[in-house]
Amino acid sequence: MDNTTHRSTEVLFRPFRLKGLELPNRIVMPAMGFHGADGGVPGDDVADFYARRANGQVGLMFTEGVYIDHPVSGNNPILMRFHGENPLNGWAQVVRRVHAAGGRLIPELWHVGLIYRTEDVLKGLEPVFRPEEGQISPSGYIMPNRKVADGMNQAQIDAVIDAFARGAEMAQAIGFDAVELHGAHGYLIDQFFWEGFNRRTDGYGGSVRNRARFAAEIVAEIRHGVGPDFPIVMRISQFKLQDYDAKVARDPQEMEQWLGPLVDAGVDMFDCSQRRFWEPEFAGSPLNLAGWVKKVSGLPTIAVGSVGLDVDMLASMGQARAPEARSLDGLIAMMERGDFDLVAVGRSLLADPDWPVKVQDRRFDALIPFTPAIMAESTALKPYSGGD
Ligand SMILES: Cc1cc2nc3c(=O)[nH]c(=O)nc-3n(C[C@H](O)[C@H](O)[C@H](O)COP(=O)(O)O)c2cc1C
Repeated sequence: MDNTTHRSTEVLFRPFRLKGLELPNRIVMPAMGFHGADGGVPGDDVADFYARRANGQVGLMFTEGVYIDHPVSGNNPILMRFHGENPLNGWAQVVRRVHAAGGRLIPELWHVGLIYRTEDVLKGLEPVFRPEEGQISPSGYIMPNRKVADGMNQAQIDAVIDAFARGAEMAQAIGFDAVELHGAHGYLIDQFFWEGFNRRTDGYGGSVRNRARFAAEIVAEIRHGVGPDFPIVMRISQFKLQDYDAKVARDPQEMEQWLGPLVDAGVDMFDCSQRRFWEPEFAGSPLNLAGWVKKVSGLPTIAVGSVGLDVDMLASMGQARAPEARSLDGLIAMMERGDFDLVAVGRSLLADPDWPVKVQDRRFDALIPFTPAIMAESTALKPYSGGD
């Protein structure tokens, strides 16, 4: 655990603006599926969780991944939904509480595609496929070497685009501050991005640019519905839960092909998911993923990955311990250099909702360290209530 620094932390506490979204500082809480409730309805505990972190001066928060209004967007009955009267009323209440505490909140709209159970994937277990569930994916691959179904047809593609667009319009209507699309970690949008899952030979497959088309069409449809001023954030990652070494873009040129269509369609900011923020993305440059995405796209970016921690995300889910610890020095240096704009702090904020205040006041000794036991409190990570 190392949250300390001898440097000034001032760069973390500069205001930031994205269209009408004004933030008091650069500290963000990323999407974390930490809650569970029958029917996926966020209750008072969920509102308390986010409002508490707004009180702790987190400038911007993303909700846990929320299932969009599509029959197979997700199949865990305790994870949060973004459709139906009760879940949406619940989210409206969460937004009100966060705003009352001075915070800003963005829902992470999610479609899992062809992943049956995330926790199986995380444990490296043989993936389960249930044909009767009707899960969809670009080419029917559940793993890069295992085709289990047909790929999506045009009507299925159009239905998902429509479901994301309706989700974004709902986010705007409820009072959220922007919308984020979950285009990372090997879920549906990312299944299109990555050639390991996308083997299509039509306009949605082949080149990186073609593989970005599905996401670009979603973004364009959202932009059409929400108007020019509502920010659209796209979360992307190179790594997949199914393959940590996967790369959508193997070099900056491929990255340009990947991001160009998304920028043209109307993305305002990229949320760049990495397991360790200090790791360079391409050889020959210290820039991390968020650094390269900012350079290539010209848009603001969010970096993430083990800030204030000495174990990475997967290590805290029971896998091998990551070898390196990092103080805040490196992060501050990268931000002072202007590599990226915002930094997401995940597990450190699960452990200590006052992380921003304490870092600003240099009360490093008072920070509550993250321990894997905190993950054990998460209902979302517990086995399904509805069977295997
Ligand atoms: C309990 C838990 C749940 C997560 N759920 C999501 C999620 O729903 N959507 C998502 O994009 N990332 C999810 N993540 C990844 C985080 O957003 C973040 O990228 C990751 O924890 C790395 O940041 P950290 O090292 O500061 O914790 C989750 C992480 C954790 C620990």
